[in-house]
Amino acid sequence: MKKNFKAISLYVTAVIAGVVSLSSCISDADSPGLEYTPDMYRSPAIEPYVDYGEFRNKEHVELKSQQSAMRPPNYSIPFYGSDSAKVAMMLPYHRLASSAAALSHGLNASEGWRLSDSLDVEYIKAKADKNPISLTADNKDAIFGKGKKLYTSMCAHCHGEKGDGEGPMVKSGAYAGVPNYKNLTELGDGQVFYSIYYGKGAMGAHAMLLNKEEIWTLVHYVNKFRFDGYGEEPVMEVEAADSTAMTETIGE
Ligand code: HEC
Repeated sequence: MKKNFKAISLYVTAVIAGVVSLSSCISDADSPGLEYTPDMYRSPAIEPYVDYGEFRNKEHVELKSQQSAMRPPNYSIPFYGSDSAKVAMMLPYHRLASSAAALSHGLNASEGWRLSDSLDVEYIKAKADKNPISLTADNKDAIFGKGKKLYTSMCAHCHGEKGDGEGPMVKSGAYAGVPNYKNLTELGDGQVFYSIYYGKGAMGAHAMLLNKEEIWTLVHYVNKFRFDGYGEEPVMEVEAADSTAMTETIGE
């Protein structure tokens, strides 16, 4: 009985081995034969930033063509779209931080910041930079509305709601040297942008807190404090066709 059992198990093992080895044979000479673990031979092409909406063998349409990878690293700049003006707004700011920022704001070259060699050269050049968001009769309320919201949450605690440099931080004695915007009429729009972006003196940099569109929006809002009647007169380039619309707004 014991002998029989041994003989049978030997026989079964031989049959299984025979079946397995024969089934691996395929007549095509170029074929690798039956693949028992195809994923090991051919790893699936997974593109880390594209989600095909497939997981656990189910298609999830709502996830298709969306980014699937983890959140991009902090300070990554989104860069997409077909509107060239919007895309330009996403591109990095073209002016370098002044070398003074290495001391005052910790923008060290060793951490990848490119700094200008001399102290103020880029700031001076920035005077000529124009605000890419032009103010028109149609968009000015929206721009000033958005500017006010940003200003109230990010700037008013130092600069004061009225832009007079008397925010609660200054009144508490924590900060000093915050200017009244009314005294800053000499600055170009681009310099206002530059200082908000990189910071200046005791003011911190806002490049990582606000995107460029938000900063340019704030430049318009700050101009309301700097120049009486800013945005109410046709100071911006108005095309001839729009001039009647503008006159109506001025009349308000
Ligand atoms: C922590 C306080 C503080 C905050 C917050 C702050 N500022 Fe300032 N800001 C200052 C100080 C101080 C100065 C003067 C810097 C100097 O000239 O040394 C200044 C200067 C400026 C200037 C003049 C820049 C120049 O080139 O002379 C502008 C414009 C300005 N701030 C706008 C803003 C806006 C807009 C915000 C909000 C996004 C903001 N600031 C947030 C403290 C602050």
